[in-house]
Amino acid sequence: MPKHQKTYVTKADFMLHGGDYNPDQWLDRPEILADDIKLMKLSHTNTFSLGIFAWSTLEPEEGVYNFEWLDTIIENIAKIGGRVILATPSGARPAWMSQKYPEVLRVNESRVKQLHGGRHNHCFSSVVYREKTQQMNRLLTERYGKNPALIMWHISNEYSGECHCDNCQQAFRGWLKEKYKNDLQALNDAWWGPFWSHTFSDWSQIESPSPIGESAVHGLNLDWRRFVTDQTIDFFENEIVPMRELTPDIPITTNFMADTFDLIPFQSLDYSKFAKHLDVISWDAYPAWHNDWETTADLAMKVGFIDDLYRSLKQKPFLLMESTPSLVNWHEVNKAKRPGMHLLSSMQMLAHGSDSIMYFQWRKSRGSSEKFHGSVVDHDNSSENRVFKEVAKVGETLEKLSDVVGTNRPADVAIMYDWESNWALNDAQGFGLSTKQYPQTLQEHYRTFWEQDIPVDVITKEQDFSNYKLLIVPMLYLVSEATIARLKVFVAGGGRLVMTYISGLVNEHDLTFLGGWHKDLQDIFGMKPTETDTLYPKDKNTITYQDKKYEVKDYATVLDLATATIEGIYQEDFYENTAAVTSHSYQEGKSYYIGARLDDQFHRDFYQTLIEELALKPVVSSKHGKGVSVQARQGVESDYVFVMNFTEEAQQIAFDSSLTDLVTGEIVPEQLTLKQYEVRILEQPRK
Ligand code: GAL
Repeated sequence: MPKHQKTYVTKADFMLHGGDYNPDQWLDRPEILADDIKLMKLSHTNTFSLGIFAWSTLEPEEGVYNFEWLDTIIENIAKIGGRVILATPSGARPAWMSQKYPEVLRVNESRVKQLHGGRHNHCFSSVVYREKTQQMNRLLTERYGKNPALIMWHISNEYSGECHCDNCQQAFRGWLKEKYKNDLQALNDAWWGPFWSHTFSDWSQIESPSPIGESAVHGLNLDWRRFVTDQTIDFFENEIVPMRELTPDIPITTNFMADTFDLIPFQSLDYSKFAKHLDVISWDAYPAWHNDWETTADLAMKVGFIDDLYRSLKQKPFLLMESTPSLVNWHEVNKAKRPGMHLLSSMQMLAHGSDSIMYFQWRKSRGSSEKFHGSVVDHDNSSENRVFKEVAKVGETLEKLSDVVGTNRPADVAIMYDWESNWALNDAQGFGLSTKQYPQTLQEHYRTFWEQDIPVDVITKEQDFSNYKLLIVPMLYLVSEATIARLKVFVAGGGRLVMTYISGLVNEHDLTFLGGWHKDLQDIFGMKPTETDTLYPKDKNTITYQDKKYEVKDYATVLDLATATIEGIYQEDFYENTAAVTSHSYQEGKSYYIGARLDDQFHRDFYQTLIEELALKPVVSSKHGKGVSVQARQGVESDYVFVMNFTEEAQQIAFDSSLTDLVTGEIVPEQLTLKQYEVRILEQPRK
């Protein structure tokens, strides 16, 4: 695809603004529904996700349907020029279904059958649930598929969880038979069968991992996680049969998540696989802004990391499907966004590639567990409160940003994120049991580039990385022969590759490589790691690198050098005066191995050398202090520059030349001051 070509990911060519709208909670209050339409206009919102949890309203009894209310809602939204994202309601079942067909209910890993209740509590293998969801989806598609207001399908909601019922055990065994080509010996080999007498003599003996059964067979754990992803995708594929058949031109998404407390990518499903089945990536972002354990800028960096991962899954704009305009109801402390933070955090999403700002939810519920979750319309039903006004301001801003829609963010730097490697690493009994922190380690490597406004793609192992100048693969614990071969081709062809401690230790079955580190990795790096020391927090060690000292924490790997050059040297312990960081020229390219976990300053200094050598640059150069982020999207003729102050003080930013404010149209001088949490969106025509 040409670098600056636009890609519209939905049927709309403007920034989407709106969110989950649940009128099914208000059908006995026509005056509220009428107010909603007025408030939609006042808040400058234009797109509404409907029917996400509406099954008991759509089909109150088996085979009894009630779509008229939805007809009216869609019609009323369309009358004001609004658009609709229509959901399939499979995220929560009606009670009659659980009662009549108990097989739809989940069995948990301790083999306890769950009761009806909550949501996301169904068996993905259940034939009945698959039939029921597809039948409902067909009715929705037939009725609304051609409606001009419909711009996208929202399939289910935040797919997650796993079921361990008999049907799922059967499906798992079937999946294994296919994977191991009916060869039980191959499975026993891959799972290291004789360990603790775990050799299976019949497929029927295999059970999913369980706290009351098996949990120590790592090959089994890994295959189970892969199966859960595949089974979830299979369920999703079954849901979308009617859509693909009747509305091939309406794009399909499902909303992805993050694991929120540390704001890392969602762990339980391999989104790199799921992404291939979607037309558009969308995700639900609920960062704990203003928390008491990190700076606003640190949190903003983490948001940028996930955005860059989810955008890179399809290398095109994504959608922010849910966020809160104020606070949530499920953080430990549910703090309101301070004035200005809503616009700032929304613009950050756009800066990293989102073409929407959507909320959970449009109108605050009156009862049940989400009645205090932030929303556009509060219980006061007013357009005059602070939150509503901040939403309207976001809406007005988005209306000025149509040129940004569909634009991309080309990057020369890639960091590799691998779900499977993370699963296997977390399973590994070894190293420090709580210090592995794979996603957090990737964020630490990402930080330098974020601080310097240099665009980064966070890619997965199957993606083409041949065109990046710099590829960073921290803690790539699990790696297949195929990936190693591709890394070798990358460096041989002139790429720069950075790898760290705890990389290349096991293959795709979670079996270690025999005979030492993989021969091809030794060729690329000109050395081999021999042992990894795990440090207690009180253990002190440092390395010297380019005449400066840096702290080591958690991990120190001892290296055996062949042809590599020493870049950093351990200062203490039995590996004192040996290599901690190396570089190695391999054919046209160069590789770097960082043997120890080092502090932020090391990353800054280490990557600075590469940034200079490879001439890695921000899209627009500027000078600013810490906590300011200048991110850009690249249009066909212009760059769109988001200048964001993620600090609690005013900040100065100096550009090389003046730019145009895309929202106000005014010319912005080279020296710009941004107040606390202020954001400006500037345009720079490309030379
Ligand atoms: C999301 C979910 C929404 C709502 C929201 C509250 O995870 O998809 O339905 O519950 O959380 O923050």
